Amino acid sequence: MKALLLSGGSGSRLRPLTFTGAKQLIPVANKPILFYAIESIRDAGIRDIGIVLGATGDEVRSMVGDGSQWGVHITYIQQDAPRGLAHAVQLAEPFIGTEPFLMFLGDNMIQDDVRPFVKDFENHRCNALVLLSEVLEPQRFGVAVLSEGRLVGLVEKPKNPPSNLALVGVYVFDHHIFDSIKKIQPSWRGELEITDAIQQLMDDGLDVDYRTVDGWWKDIGKPEDILDANRVILERIPATIQGSLDDQSSVAGRVQVEIGATIVNSVIRGPAIIGQGARIENAYVGPYTSICPNVQVLNSEIENSIVLENTVIRDIETRIDGSLIGKNASITASEARPRTIRLVLGDQSRAEVR
Ligand code: TTP
Repeated sequence: MKALLLSGGSGSRLRPLTFTGAKQLIPVANKPILFYAIESIRDAGIRDIGIVLGATGDEVRSMVGDGSQWGVHITYIQQDAPRGLAHAVQLAEPFIGTEPFLMFLGDNMIQDDVRPFVKDFENHRCNALVLLSEVLEPQRFGVAVLSEGRLVGLVEKPKNPPSNLALVGVYVFDHHIFDSIKKIQPSWRGELEITDAIQQLMDDGLDVDYRTVDGWWKDIGKPEDILDANRVILERIPATIQGSLDDQSSVAGRVQVEIGATIVNSVIRGPAIIGQGARIENAYVGPYTSICPNVQVLNSEIENSIVLENTVIRDIETRIDGSLIGKNASITASEARPRTIRLVLGDQSRAEVR
């Protein structure tokens, strides 16, 4: 079986970070979201993966390469514009051929092993198998309509949800999906929706079955989703100290300090990860924080946050909390009078100050 991994889209809910980079390459516990998906697919025993690319295609290509770092083979499929998940599937038909395939959204993170799901499909041979997960806000998702335990319909972002079971971004399809995509029309937002294509399969009397996931699942859309995912993943990282730590520093709990990181006169309270070449000096790094490579946190305190590569945080008196800070940013205190806040923020940035 082949897999199709979707890494195009516009990532509009994650601006400004997605103005300069792919949403799927934002790191969670210092590893790009997309890499978790590639690992899930590889762990399901699939070696041939097609990746759909959008405007951020070059960045994805350079980070993922030919897939050899995971022992898989990658084929890239360029999508000219985000015309919808079903459009991405349609583009991939020459790559997929006539065999069933696993489709995985590159911004989804799933704790459950997807191998049993793939095996179920192979043993049971329906035309499509979807994964469902109980969610608190079904209004935000594609939602399943069940009748006597059978899947009978799907509704996209319903005002009055027929159930609290949302479509997880992992599916197995056979070749009938290509025919049903040909029959559907773009939705009100101008996209070919995969929910419409699956509904079309059902309307054509084909067999669409489902399984539910028990474990944690996250569809990354907004900054809060990334911080949530970061908390969950950090709970599971192994504690290892490979960087340098002076006698005045202390590390407690599940903490990973990578090679070349330097910690001086600081307190690190896990779960937390400090990336290669980072420098933490006279600082506090609290629980659920991911510090990416070459970041500097100097005379400052931070927790429950993600700081991307090469950013400097210096002399900040108030503890930084619940923040997602991009690459090459600089947050420093100013001695200049009058005491003001001076900001150079990109479009659609958010700063909460007091
Ligand atoms: P979405 O989260 O539905 O869309 P998006 O990434 O454009 O984000 P936003 O709504 O904030 O603008 O996409 C789910 C996944 O599928 C994501 O990994 C991007 C990918 N995708 C494509 O590859 N092609 C597409 O045409 C679309 C719409 C999404």
